[in-house]
This record gives sequence, structure tokens and C-alpha cells, in this order.
Amino acid sequence: FIICILLILQHVYSNKIINGLEEEVKKSEFPNGFLFGTSTSAYQVEGAYIEDGRSLSNWDTYCHINGVIPNGGSGDIADDHYHRYLEDIDLMASLGVNAYRFSISWSRILPRGKLGHVNPAGIKFYNNIIDSLLLKGIIPFVTIHHYDYPQEFEDRFQAWLSPLMQEEFVHFAEICFKSFGNRVKYWATLNEPNLYMEMAYLKGVFPPSHCSPPFGKCSYGNSDIEPLLVVHNSILAHAKAVKIYRDQFQEKQGGTIGMVASAYMYKPMTDNEADNKATNRALAFRVAWLLDPLVYGDYPIEMRHYLGTKLPIFNGEEKILIKNSTDFIGLNHYTTYFAKDCLNSNCTCMESDVLCTHGENRAIRGYVLITGQKDGAYIGDQMGMPGLYVVPQGMEDIVDYVNKRYNNLPIFVTENGYASNENQEGYDMDQDRKRIKYHKAYLASLARSIRNGADVRGYFVWSLMDNFEWRFGYTVKFGLYHVDPFSLNRSPKLSAHWFRDFLTNTTLNN
Ligand code: NOJ
Repeated sequence: FIICILLILQHVYSNKIINGLEEEVKKSEFPNGFLFGTSTSAYQVEGAYIEDGRSLSNWDTYCHINGVIPNGGSGDIADDHYHRYLEDIDLMASLGVNAYRFSISWSRILPRGKLGHVNPAGIKFYNNIIDSLLLKGIIPFVTIHHYDYPQEFEDRFQAWLSPLMQEEFVHFAEICFKSFGNRVKYWATLNEPNLYMEMAYLKGVFPPSHCSPPFGKCSYGNSDIEPLLVVHNSILAHAKAVKIYRDQFQEKQGGTIGMVASAYMYKPMTDNEADNKATNRALAFRVAWLLDPLVYGDYPIEMRHYLGTKLPIFNGEEKILIKNSTDFIGLNHYTTYFAKDCLNSNCTCMESDVLCTHGENRAIRGYVLITGQKDGAYIGDQMGMPGLYVVPQGMEDIVDYVNKRYNNLPIFVTENGYASNENQEGYDMDQDRKRIKYHKAYLASLARSIRNGADVRGYFVWSLMDNFEWRFGYTVKFGLYHVDPFSLNRSPKLSAHWFRDFLTNTTLNN
């Protein structure tokens, strides 16, 4: 009998502690007025790619190249949100969210950028979305640019590689403020330029599919400064748009504006000093690369140290422009990696670790990123996406890092989600149960960072529904709602019910 009890206790213990994913969390652990929402982006859900005056975007062109996306996937139809947005807003309302993060298709609003006209059908579409959200009491949180722009920019001046893109973006942002700012109070200028550069200009798996030799799959070779230029132009574009917003709109419209960073967490592989330093470098090269300029007016010192003159320079005027150019920090957080030093140690890692093979870390920055079990912090894989690992503690850690480094600026978790690979009919309930555990554990971790003093104001699940997951097409799904690939009918997964209960079931959660 005693052995039996011990076995049961051991089972419970191992599930709770080693597995660590059994955490419960309550809505009441978050401050009043906290935004709880779901997140999407235009190209991933809208479809209707040549309707009502929309021009072709960089993603249309890319996906239409044979063999680039699994199963010939593209955003041509996507979730057909363009025609079904009312139904989708009803889904959100039934979840009980009070906010929705979505992005604006540049090609719909300005099919030819500054050269052409503002497309009234594009303005009307987003007006309809915003008005319908507000009618249901859902606050719009708008990302102006989320990876997709008119292909013409690529053809005419190489898009984000050129400073001309800054002027294009400022023009686009200004039209958004003018058209929607009377009702939109939360603006994110750009989504994850720090991840975009890696995918588009290092690994070559996002358009325009450049890379820095010898890494990644290249359509042609490019210099290793391209990623640096892309982020440089993005930071300046952001700051110029924010200046226009602050000078002309903010006071009248009463909104807030910031940027969204891809914010993975990094932890030292061992407790030794070298690995701790490697971790600081990893955080600098990934997170502070984008955020230090927006808060302090320049790149982190570690980057300058390792990149020397390759790292672009902000002149005096630009430093003033970019410093304090964000009202809040948007964090897209999914996973954590361990950093291991390469400067003083012989660093090896498994070639299967996606970021291990990502050689510029090793060669230039002096670290490798390793995934793997350590102290029970690593709990499992996200089934659908190589390289995304479930490490709930990473949420508290990244928020603490950002909170401390940027003096308690307001933070929104603009994305957090679990990837499954559901290649069957319907959806995979086992993976979706893992999705529920993932969200609970990450939310519990976020609640801890709030108790530690971080000013966190919102949390958005990626994503409302299964959608076009960029280079993985429709083979990877993050949705709370399943979308039938043929009928495009939406149906709630168990995770949708969980989120609804978390948000609305006061007896259970408050
Ligand atoms: C980051 C991106 O912002 C979003 O578009 C993407 O689908 C998710 N993360 C998941 O990869």
C-alpha cells in the first residue's frame, strides 16, 4: 500500500515539477484594464489577393514561385478573412477577448506606394473591421507593417535595403493615422524587423530570399551587411513615423505607439562566466539590437565591439530622432535557447540545433545557441515548428530583462503561441491539449513578471485561427480555431474553449 502511495506521489510530482506544465493561472492575476486578445496579420489571413485594387506584394510574388512553400501554399485565399471578417469578429467576441491585434495590407491601401493613389476600397475594408470590433467592445491594436509590402518596392529600389523604404513607410503610416487614428489607440509600427532580417537576408527563406554566404539557402549571395542595413532602415522608418504621429496626431487622437520585437530568451548553458557573457551577447544581438536604439538612441555596445565598422552608424540628428521613440515595447515571445561561449571554449553543438548551424553567431559573435534539456527548464518541443521549444520560465525572464534594461517601459506581449503540425482531417487534440498547457504555463510565468514589478499591459495569443504560416505554408498551425482547408469553415478547438473559460468563467478564475 505504501509503495502504491509513493508511486502515485512520484507520478504527481514528476508531472508537476519535471513536466512543469501543469500550472494554473487566473485572469485576476492580471491588472485591471489588461488587454487580452488574439493576433493575426494581413497576409496570413485575408486572401483576396487581387481584389478591389490590391497590388501584388512581395509575398504574392514569392509564394507563386514553384516549390517555395510546401504544397504550393500561398496567401491567395488564406482564411478568406477579407470576406469573412464579420464572422471572425463574432468568434473573438464569443471568446470574450477585449482586444484584437491585426495588420494592414500595404498593397491594399497604397498599391503603388507614394507613386500612386490611396485605394478607397482598402480604407473601407479596415474601417469596417475597426468599426465592427468597436461595436463588440473589442479594442483594435494595429500593426502597420507585418512582413508584406508592394512588390514594386523590391523591383524599383530593393525595399528595406534602401533608405527610400523609410519614406515609403512614413507615407503609409501617416495615411493610417489620418484614416483610422480617430478610433485606433494602439499602434505598432513594424513587426519583428529583427526576425525578418534573419529569415529574408540570412537564411533566405522569406522574400527577397537573400542570404549572407555561406549560410542558408541562397537565391544569390549577398554581403554580410544586408541584415544590418535592413534593421537600420527599419529603426529609422519607425522613428520617423513616430515623430509624425507625436507631432500631428497623438495629442488629438490620444493613442500610444511602439514597435514589436521578436524576443526569444537566452540563458547560459553553464554557470561559468564565459557562458554568462555569451548570453548577454546573444540578448544584445537579438533583442537589444532593436530596442536599445529606440530607447537610448544607439546600438548596444556589444554589437559595435564585435561588428566594428560593419554596423551602420546613426548620425547626431538620427540619434536624437530615434531616442525615446517608443511609448511601449511589443514582445513576440515563443521560446528560449541556451547560449554557449565560443570565444574561450571549444563550442560544439548538434547540427540538428537550427541555431547551431546558424554560423554567424559562432563566427562573428562568439557564441552558439543550443536547445536541450537543462535543469528541467526545457519541457518539450512545439510539435509543428523545428526550433521552438516549450520553456515557460522564459516568459518571466524576457519580460524581466526588458523591464530592467528599459526602465519599466510599458510592455505588451503581442504574440505567444504553440505550433502544431496537423496534417489530418479535423485537428489533433493531443497537440491542442499541449497548446492549452503551453498558454497556461506561459501566462503563469507572465503573471510572475508582473508581480516582480513589470508594467505589462496586454497578452495576445498567436493566433485566432490557423493561417498561412509563412515558409511552412499551411503545414504548421497556431490557431485557437481550426480552419477547414476546403470549406474554410472555422471551428473551435479545445484551446478556444479554454481561453474563453479563462477570460469569462468568473467562478473558476477569479
Ligand atoms: C511571428 C510572426 O509575427 C507571425 O507572423 C508568425 O506567424 C508567428 N510569429 C509564428 O511563427
